[in-house]
Amino acid sequence: MSPFPLHKKEGKEMQEKLQALKVQALAELEAVQTPQELEEFRVRYMGKKGSLTELLRGMGSLPAEERPKMGQLVNELRQLLDGALTERAGALQKSLQEQKLKEEKLDVTMPGKTKPIGGLHPLNVVLNDVIDIFQSMGFDVVDGPEVETDHYNFEALNVPQDHPARDMQDTFYLAENLLLRTQTSAAQIRTMEQRKPPIRIICPGRVFRADEVDATHSPVFHQIEGLVVDKGVTMCDLKGVLEQFAHEIYGPDTKVKFRPSFFPFTEPSVEVDVSCSECGGKGCRVCKDSGWIEILGAGMVHPRVLSGCGIDPEEYSGFAFGIGLDRLTTTRYKISDIRLLFENDLRFLEQFDK
Ligand code: DAH
Repeated sequence: MSPFPLHKKEGKEMQEKLQALKVQALAELEAVQTPQELEEFRVRYMGKKGSLTELLRGMGSLPAEERPKMGQLVNELRQLLDGALTERAGALQKSLQEQKLKEEKLDVTMPGKTKPIGGLHPLNVVLNDVIDIFQSMGFDVVDGPEVETDHYNFEALNVPQDHPARDMQDTFYLAENLLLRTQTSAAQIRTMEQRKPPIRIICPGRVFRADEVDATHSPVFHQIEGLVVDKGVTMCDLKGVLEQFAHEIYGPDTKVKFRPSFFPFTEPSVEVDVSCSECGGKGCRVCKDSGWIEILGAGMVHPRVLSGCGIDPEEYSGFAFGIGLDRLTTTRYKISDIRLLFENDLRFLEQFDK
């Protein structure tokens, strides 16, 4: 039953239209799934040319006494649709948000992705140990150039031109007096020129020699030079420092052997062997069955080298040493081929720096 007694035919028709519009609109609203469809719905019914607006316009044809009642009915429908629209918009937003939350669900229990970070090269692992040991004995770490002059690499180290000792080191020359250093010993001269005794330095670095490549030779390898100059330094100091070093690197039970040797820049000169840490001196693959591993050359700094750097050999004395870092590394890790240290194969490198 209509709440309004409508007598005129037009009024009745209009009321039926309103009713039909209401049913249809509410059904369509129910089916709306997206904000865009909702906006289309709003335009379709309540926009300037929307069905409800048209209905309102059509009221002009009604008899004057019907208009207020019809106006009220249309307005009620308008309010109803307005409310339903807002409600639908809210529901729609809520369900969209829920869907989004579901899609973007985070599994907080999943393990995180870590970026692999690089590790230290085995040579650097061992070098850091060597540096720690010498720093704890009061040595400074200094650096020197890889491209050297003949003077620093040979001449000032008591190896004049045509000296047979030059044959011991096959040199890469870049120009007549310019070369890739064959030994870090060049750092001794540079240090003594720059510092006054007491001097206690080590100089780690790359050195170069025109050697054939094989399992134990590489044209690029590494040395750690050491130099101590002070008043009253003796061979006992040399032995004490190097023994201490060997024990810290290879363990306290390691035996240390000083063999007489020759280097032009030291007098007397020695080579230092340590008992093989792998077999304890019995002989094995690592020590090539000798029971000993040669790790460095050393000696008392030649007076001519001191005086060449302006240090009076009557007042001062010193000792020097050159450690082979590659040998230290291959024996520690039982690496059978020195080339592995230079090939940078990750499968090899990943085994160190633990
Ligand atoms: N420079 C030498 C070499 O490459 C090693 C060496 C021996 C360094 C005796 C020294 C030293 O400082 O005193 O074979």
